[in-house]
Amino acid sequence: MRMLVTGVSGQVGGALAARLPPSATVLAADRNVLDLATPQTIAGILDRLSPDIIFNPAAYTAVDKAEDEPDLAMRINAEAPGAMARWAAAHDVPLIHFSTDYVFDGSGERAWREDDAPHPLSVYGATKLAGENEIRGAGGTFLIVRTSWVYAAEGKNFLRTIARLARERTELRIVADQIGAPTSAALIGDVVAGMLLEGGEGLREYCAGAGGLVHLAASGETSWHGFASAIVGGLKARGVALAVERIVPIATEDYPTKARRPHNSRLDMTRLQTIFGITPLFWQIALAPELDRLARELAIAHRG
Ligand SMILES: NC(=O)c1ccc[n+]([C@@H]2O[C@H](COP(=O)([O-])OP(=O)(O)OC[C@H]3O[C@@H](n4cnc5c(N)ncnc54)[C@H](OP(=O)(O)O)[C@@H]3O)[C@@H](O)[C@H]2O)c1
Repeated sequence: MRMLVTGVSGQVGGALAARLPPSATVLAADRNVLDLATPQTIAGILDRLSPDIIFNPAAYTAVDKAEDEPDLAMRINAEAPGAMARWAAAHDVPLIHFSTDYVFDGSGERAWREDDAPHPLSVYGATKLAGENEIRGAGGTFLIVRTSWVYAAEGKNFLRTIARLARERTELRIVADQIGAPTSAALIGDVVAGMLLEGGEGLREYCAGAGGLVHLAASGETSWHGFASAIVGGLKARGVALAVERIVPIATEDYPTKARRPHNSRLDMTRLQTIFGITPLFWQIALAPELDRLARELAIAHRG
């Protein structure tokens, strides 16, 4: 089976490509193979690659920068997935696409369900929502997987930023009033690749059973402050020398950013549990192997 994965230089794409079944031919597409900024080229490239299933974790993910580049973000996050979805529907190829908690406005305290009305606060969120709508409009067999607060031991993410700042500064000031579930790319890769292994041919039934949309994040919840505290505590426990002495909780207003972010990013995962029979790991459990990898990398860099 020919499995196309976009965004393989990214967190989720990399984790997913590494976890697909050994029997599959993995078509690992970076932007040199498939540039999502040129949606008009996508159908021709897919004709040539001829995948049997498409995973599309590639996205314009620079949330603040997207406020200044709405047209580019819209091409990559909405028009390109739309082109992919129309090709996939026409060729009866399942499309597994990734979306975000940022499609919601973050009001209220309860976890967001798949059928809650989205209302993005940012250009990034709006373009991701437009991508979901393009895919739904194309029909065919698809699954949109909404996730949240993605990180990995590698790449550009909150985990690595905190690890760097904690070595440089004695005090960190971290937002404590945005609540969500930090989700490792490895967890997403494990669950999505696992759907294939366990579902096999049943994947199409899963997609239909879920109505083409499912929430997938780590279990449990915390704030960015809670996440930062767990990172610092975990790195210290692994013997990483850190300068940081205090992690001060602050409000969103005290850390102004170009794009607005939801206060409540909790994702309800009842559908994942009932349709797919999957309960993801708690975020603290999924964090441990990433901290192990990062601590090893830092120890090697320190020795070197
Ligand atoms: N990161 C998060 O916190 C988060 C939270 C919720 C949902 N999500 C969603 O989860 C998915 C995976 O996110 P991630 O964290 O893995 O993202 P990521 O690490 O930022 O990776 C994004 C990937 O998209 C690729 N890409 C960007 N522009 C492209 C283009 N024009 N053509 C082809 N590829 C392009 C990047 O390639 P280059 O390396 O060449 O730039 C990179 O491989 C995305 O759909 C995202 O919206 C992410």
